Amino acid sequence: KKATIMIDKNFILSDIDERTYGSFVEHLGRCVYEGIYQPGHPAADEKGLRQDVAALIRELNVPVTRYPGGNFVSGYRWEDSVGPKEQRPSKIDLAWRVVESNQFGLNEFMEWTKTVDTQPMMAINLGTRGIEAAKNIIEYTNLKKGSYYSDLRRQHGVTEPHDIKLWCLGNEMDGPWQEGHKTALEYGRIAEEAGKAMRLVDPTIETVACGSSSLSMPTFGFWEDTVLSQCYDQVDYISMHQYYGNRDGDSQQFLASSDGMDQFIREVISICDAVKAKRRAKKQINISFDEWNVWYHSNEQDKQIEPWSEHPHQLEDVYNFEDSLLVASMMITMLRHADRVKIGCLAQLVNVIAPIMTSATGVWKQTIFYPFAMISNQGRGHVLHTQIKAPTFASNYGNSGYLDAVVIENVEEDQLTIFAVNKDLEDELELTSDFRQYEGYRLVDHVMLRHDDLKAVNTEANPETVAPVKGSRVVFEQGKLTGVLPTQSFHMIKLQ
Ligand code: AHR
Repeated sequence: KKATIMIDKNFILSDIDERTYGSFVEHLGRCVYEGIYQPGHPAADEKGLRQDVAALIRELNVPVTRYPGGNFVSGYRWEDSVGPKEQRPSKIDLAWRVVESNQFGLNEFMEWTKTVDTQPMMAINLGTRGIEAAKNIIEYTNLKKGSYYSDLRRQHGVTEPHDIKLWCLGNEMDGPWQEGHKTALEYGRIAEEAGKAMRLVDPTIETVACGSSSLSMPTFGFWEDTVLSQCYDQVDYISMHQYYGNRDGDSQQFLASSDGMDQFIREVISICDAVKAKRRAKKQINISFDEWNVWYHSNEQDKQIEPWSEHPHQLEDVYNFEDSLLVASMMITMLRHADRVKIGCLAQLVNVIAPIMTSATGVWKQTIFYPFAMISNQGRGHVLHTQIKAPTFASNYGNSGYLDAVVIENVEEDQLTIFAVNKDLEDELELTSDFRQYEGYRLVDHVMLRHDDLKAVNTEANPETVAPVKGSRVVFEQGKLTGVLPTQSFHMIKLQ
């Protein structure tokens, strides 16, 4: 089969917002406890932060991290998580039916963000709480001193404000599973009023309204329209969440799922712009895709969890090779919408549906670690409109292309990077691409992720079963790229 990637150096889609490569830390399972934080562990520092985990997070290069949930945030009392640890209460968490000890809290999280070089994206509780708690938390985090909550932070040993710039107004409020689940109108109103109060405390913040929890939510569309019609002036982004799974054991269909993500993004953009037009607004609402991943492997085993335990093994999906291909395609899809998708959070970061796993004895990289790290580290600059001509297959989304690709130009580094997935499980793709506008460029790197077995996994004992290798079947001569992308493979090709 043959495929072509076409670009023009003048056809720039958008700068990439580095926050597209964000992730997510929720108080859920072993993400926090036994994940990023484990006092007494040989790899933990004096604050209990696991440095072996931190090193892998730095490798992933995650510029923003959402916290503390997720469903958890809809019952969260931030006050329980600050102050002397021995006085912090253990509370039941209805979202995951576990007990939260609060030994790791807001200030510990902010400490951790510094060690892994990430910015916070803090969520507030609009499930069981409202405007008062929203106003108080931002007073605690962002005001210098001289008021009750800013002084309380100082008493807790944090002299300077945390100055948190990015705030999620609740989580998945459209979901009947959510504590304090709301109708679109109820949520739109509370988001507007909470956002207003928070901006009165700190006008420099950005806020994210909850969009739909997935494209298949029955309220999708109506939800975005109603919510944005209420709170448009108080928000900057609308959130999107989407998880996929190969539940039917049909890998070709599973790999087409990124087309579902593409459709979802297009539809949310249309609604944002329709509301903008109706309001005659100047401001544009952009997208925060703040939960995305593959999630299904652990669903059955999670039904066995004993209620009211503390940080049990929960949502511990063991990712295989085909999952890593879909993760690459999902990232490519977001980049192809870089003009509107400004924030993306891989859900989640450690142990819970995560690229990084820990045990008492070590840490290892799941298969999905690699496409994330490759794209996050190399996908910096601006996205070029990338036209693709490739054969297609019949999928749940109509016709899906076998090739997913995006071309990124980094002007500062004089560099072009092509990310491409060949989803074809039977045939290689013969690729041609014309880059003669980039005179003098050479092929400087080609890294490939490929495995014969779509179900291959990485484990603590065999951590590198799936890992990137050097690609060898692509050549670049006189400005033309030609070569072969083997079946079921992900590529990063760099020209300079
Ligand atoms: O990421 C796991 C869960 O998925 C989050 O807590 C929730 O927001 C979503 O349903």
